[in-house]
Amino acid sequence: MLANRFTLLTVSSILLLLCCYNPPQCDGARILAVYAFPGKSHYNMHSVLIKDLIQRGHQVTMVAAFTLKHLNLGQNYTEILIEPVYDFWSDVIPSFADNIFAFSNMGNLEYFKMMDIIAFGTTEHALNQTKIQALINEPNPKGKYDLLLCEQFYQEPFLALSRIYDVPVVTSGTLGFETRMSQMMGLIMPWSFVPHTFSPYSDRMSFTERLLNSFYSFTEDLIREYDYFPRMDKLVQKYFGHLNVTIPSTSLLERNISMALVNSYSPLSSPRPLLPGMVAVGGLHIHPPKKLPSEIQEFLDNAEEGAIFFSLGSNIKSTDMPYEKMRIFLDVFGAMKQRVIWKFENDSIPDLPKNILIRNWLPQSDILAHPRLKVFITHGGLFSTQEGVHYGVPMLGIPIYCDQHLNMRKAEMSGYAVKLHFPSITRETLKEALEKLLYIPYYRENVQRVSNIFRDRPMSASETAVYWIEYVIRHQGAPHIRSAGLDLNWFQFYLLDVIAFVTIVPILLIAAVVFVVRRLIFSLWRGNKIKQN
Ligand SMILES: *[C@@H]1O[C@H](CO)[C@@H](O)[C@H](O)[C@H]1NC(C)=O
Ligand SMILES: *[C@@H]1O[C@H](CO)[C@@H](O)[C@H](O)[C@H]1NC(C)=O
Ligand SMILES: *[C@@H]1O[C@H](CO)[C@@H](O)[C@H](O)[C@H]1NC(C)=O
Ligand SMILES: *[C@@H]1O[C@H](CO)[C@@H](O)[C@H](O)[C@H]1NC(C)=O
Ligand SMILES: *[C@@H]1O[C@H](CO)[C@@H](O)[C@H](O)[C@H]1NC(C)=O
Repeated sequence: MLANRFTLLTVSSILLLLCCYNPPQCDGARILAVYAFPGKSHYNMHSVLIKDLIQRGHQVTMVAAFTLKHLNLGQNYTEILIEPVYDFWSDVIPSFADNIFAFSNMGNLEYFKMMDIIAFGTTEHALNQTKIQALINEPNPKGKYDLLLCEQFYQEPFLALSRIYDVPVVTSGTLGFETRMSQMMGLIMPWSFVPHTFSPYSDRMSFTERLLNSFYSFTEDLIREYDYFPRMDKLVQKYFGHLNVTIPSTSLLERNISMALVNSYSPLSSPRPLLPGMVAVGGLHIHPPKKLPSEIQEFLDNAEEGAIFFSLGSNIKSTDMPYEKMRIFLDVFGAMKQRVIWKFENDSIPDLPKNILIRNWLPQSDILAHPRLKVFITHGGLFSTQEGVHYGVPMLGIPIYCDQHLNMRKAEMSGYAVKLHFPSITRETLKEALEKLLYIPYYRENVQRVSNIFRDRPMSASETAVYWIEYVIRHQGAPHIRSAGLDLNWFQFYLLDVIAFVTIVPILLIAAVVFVVRRLIFSLWRGNKIKQN
């Protein structure tokens, strides 16, 4: 009886749920995606997003820096491939050093310069392609697409496509939360506890750090407004100027995006103020582990004492490392009981110790998922850090440029990484760091705790991303969540007019009182003098 009533109750509540739960509809939309930036790791995020959108029955036309052919996305996927892949490192490296590893000694201002070179080189390379010009010169653009997806990573002229096709924009912030999103989204980012993306600071800054953090954040805003955007506007003029469409400045285009999907998630970035249009989807690219190639599976399965995985990501090549540093790694690894898998972009290393396996490409995420894996030696890129945390592997961070310093500082402060400065790595420091991570349970316990927090979410990252993309399509933009701060003058935005008012008015009042009192005293004194005389 009780069981029967229970079943009845369950059935009726399921029915009730089915009636009330009306999954939001958004039928086969036509999406134009422009992911023209040739950053291999950025495609971790793009490819998952596009695959999910196709699976939901949308049609995607994508301007791609790397092909997604291998994903067999079917007839609803159209690709406009930028060829050849632009090698921006050959522009950047000679401008600063003879070797990418020297970038670990550069500061914020040099990273700004580096990103500037990358931004203009890659943007013009893409805009100058006949295929892209066909997209710009589309004779009947109105109604062709429902949405423009772009990457929130420089290359702002592509936002002009949103005016040609008259569609709202959703961007992917592959670099995570960035300080400059404050200008773009219309919120005041507190420089007192939000470290600049390219700084090695944390959310707890000393006076000097706060001073420099404010300097870098403010300088970047000024550079963007008065140098970077005007030069991007020239590119817009050059490639879009002939059209009979009013295209606002790139600065304004950027202030008009509906939503930014940001590659970050708590607790990997420190808490900060956000607007509803900034949605955290960090870890989007992490998929359930796939089967490893058999030789790697065997190598790891038989690592009785555990294994170490060493990869510096897709941009930094271990083969570019100065020889004496490479020797340090080989010697230290060779003397260890653990096995080492190293992403090394050459077929062989002479006299390679038996416990080291090198390959020029490795399935990083699947290797990190292996239970024998004890330490991940990483450059601290955002995607790698997220994978290391997701699979609960303590990290040895060797940050080289830009946000890698920030990511590894955060990891070190949260107790799941040891950070080494590349130029000062010695046999002793490397061995000591690896032994700490291997033998002190503190690091593993911390990374596993952080991993559990990172995975604990109301909806998966990809469900979240797809939900908000479809939300923007359903409502044809999201002006209701656009900050009114975006329409204020900079001095109004920062309340400088109010501050000026509340400072100047009391000063004027005090000055007036002083003036009156002085006049009074003076006339009294004169009166007395006249009387005496
Ligand atoms: C392709 O898109 C159309 C309309 O957008 C949709 O009806 C169809 O199911 C999609 N095809 C596949 C294989 O998803
Ligand atoms: C644009 O492409 C043409 C050839 O298609 C090339 O000659 C020219 O140098 C390119 N310009 C830029 C700025 O890349
Ligand atoms: C901002 O975007 C909306 C659509 O989302 C569009 O109607 C409007 O013209 C855009 N404004 C500017 C200045 O780009
Ligand atoms: C440009 O656009 C305006 C308004 O949409 C239209 O009246 C005009 O004929 C267009 N001019 C050309 C050359 O297409
Ligand atoms: C890579 O291999 C080539 C030829 O096999 C060799 O000349 C070169 O020194 C190797 N580079 C490194 C960094 O081992």
